[in-house]
Amino acid sequence: MKTIPFSFDLTPGTFIPTAYDNYIRRQYSALKGQYLDKAAHEAIIAAGDPLSYEVYEIRRPELTGEILHGISILHPGKVGDEYAMTKGHFHTVRDTGEVYMCLKGTGAMVMETEAGETAVEFLVPGRVLYVLPNWAHRSVNLSADEDFVIFFAYPGHSGHDYSTIEKYGFRKLLVERDGQPTIIDNPRWGG
Ligand code: F6R
Ligand code: ZN
Repeated sequence: MKTIPFSFDLTPGTFIPTAYDNYIRRQYSALKGQYLDKAAHEAIIAAGDPLSYEVYEIRRPELTGEILHGISILHPGKVGDEYAMTKGHFHTVRDTGEVYMCLKGTGAMVMETEAGETAVEFLVPGRVLYVLPNWAHRSVNLSADEDFVIFFAYPGHSGHDYSTIEKYGFRKLLVERDGQPTIIDNPRWGG
């Protein structure tokens, strides 16, 4: 772990950090139960379960005062009409926010609170998003052929709670309708 201030570069084009400590890969099977079209999802998994997204983390102690940061690369893809997405999560320590900046591609952040408020923000390169404390967040790639790359930073003590979202998914889903990204209600929430 570094004990003096440090910097690093992002590889031109791919935006992969030139130095990182942790690398996470998630395949389509990591989102079991989350996509609307279960048959299409199973077919993609049966056909080789491709890589859906990768996260490059600059590791820091998981402590208040530290800022965890890195790069997330969500590859394009569709499950039925639904765009490729991350698992999404609340932070275990709910009152911790997160800053995202889109570096490449076209996507969206789907967000909600436990009380039922929802929000979707669309992201293009150069746009910065602030996810408020207490809001679960999931990124979605809306492009047919381009990676959706974002830089993220959040408090060191946040932690990740995936299980709350795994139960019913997010209240809103992003699907293609008449060639356009469209926000629909998730029927698992009774919509
Ligand atoms: C960290 C954060 C992002 C995501 C990443 C992958 O708090 O929000 O770094 O971890 O975009 O998404 P998940 O973690 O939901 O698989
Ligand atoms: Zn987060």
